Amino acid sequence: MAKIYLHVLFLTLTNFLISGVYPSATFTVVNKCEFTVWPGILSNAGIAPLSTTGFALQKGESRIINAPSSWGGRFWGRTRCSEDSTGKFSCLTGDCGSGKIDCAGNGAAPPTTLAEFTLDGDSGMDFYDVSLVDGYNVPMLVVPQGGSGVNCTSTGCITDLNGACPSNLRVTSSDGEDVACKSACLAFGKEEFCCNGAYSTPDACKPSSYSQVFKSACPRAYSYAYDDKTSTFTCAGADYFITFCPSPNASKKSSSEIQNGGSEDNASSLINNTMVYEGASQVSGAPSIYAHFFSSHAIAFPGAFAVAAAVLRLCQFF
Ligand SMILES: *[C@@H]1O[C@H](CO)[C@@H](O)[C@H](O)[C@H]1NC(C)=O
Ligand SMILES: *[C@@H]1O[C@H](CO)[C@@H](O)[C@H](O)[C@H]1NC(C)=O
Ligand SMILES: *[C@@H]1O[C@H](CO)[C@@H](O)[C@H](O)[C@H]1NC(C)=O
Ligand SMILES: *[C@@H]1O[C@H](CO)[C@@H](O)[C@H](O)[C@H]1NC(C)=O
Repeated sequence: MAKIYLHVLFLTLTNFLISGVYPSATFTVVNKCEFTVWPGILSNAGIAPLSTTGFALQKGESRIINAPSSWGGRFWGRTRCSEDSTGKFSCLTGDCGSGKIDCAGNGAAPPTTLAEFTLDGDSGMDFYDVSLVDGYNVPMLVVPQGGSGVNCTSTGCITDLNGACPSNLRVTSSDGEDVACKSACLAFGKEEFCCNGAYSTPDACKPSSYSQVFKSACPRAYSYAYDDKTSTFTCAGADYFITFCPSPNASKKSSSEIQNGGSEDNASSLINNTMVYEGASQVSGAPSIYAHFFSSHAIAFPGAFAVAAAVLRLCQFF
């Protein structure tokens, strides 16, 4: 009886050490925009929130966030946020409706660019994507650091789709600036765009002329609900940089400042060469010399095993 109890204790402890104390991955959120971005984070249903669910990131700032194993959820950027006279916080794009900087379990109001993650999914791989299914508000780039896998590469939408947005999808602020671009589903609510009702299968729901505008600007991002094949990426044992407005100039600087690299990165497939984006071919920055060995994954296991071994030794006394 005591043995079973200890065995359970041992498993629980090991589990706790891996999932609770030591992170499974770190996310480094970087703001390269010329303006403040207020990132929002929503964990998937049934998954605990991370240490923050929303914060301000000034131009040039970055913040590291640890995620436990098997975490799943999304990151997005909120723009043009402010507090009204009653102290209620809201944003022009990406607003989560909480009235505070923390999103506290609320998601983003579309249209919003999303970076979506499922850590330690099938075969222990992390699955991630950048999605325009809910529309677009700010350029986002996800660069895995130190992971492995056949398609463990950067993804994102680094083109300015607010400028390139079809006029009937465009969201313009009261002062005349293009601040977001709706998806066709959001703008027209038709089943053929939303892939629901009669169009709820991959065979029935095809790309539309609207989703093709997104796809041709951002070939690696999800442009509609069944765009999985070209838009889902996988890594084992990676950490992730999530960059808002990854301008080519800024990412060159960042490669030395914060080792924002990605040596396997091929930026030319992130953008469409036929579209004009200043210096975009250089967006991947310098080859990374980031030593993954010292990052969270490598540390989690020796740490957990050391304590597990100690517990095992303890067991021998009973
Ligand atoms: C790039 O854009 C052009 C023109 O918009 C389009 O015809 C082409 O299919 C796009 N390429 C990719 C890879 O999406
Ligand atoms: C990446 O690999 C996964 C798993 O093999 C596959 O489902 C997905 O389509 C691949 N993505 C790309 C963009 O090639
Ligand atoms: C980026 O660099 C180019 C040339 O090096 C320069 O003309 C441009 O103004 C820079 N853009 C920003 C946003 O710093
Ligand atoms: C990057 O990708 C493009 C198109 O997918 C390919 O033509 C090019 O050779 C690749 N470059 C490198 C350095 O892998």
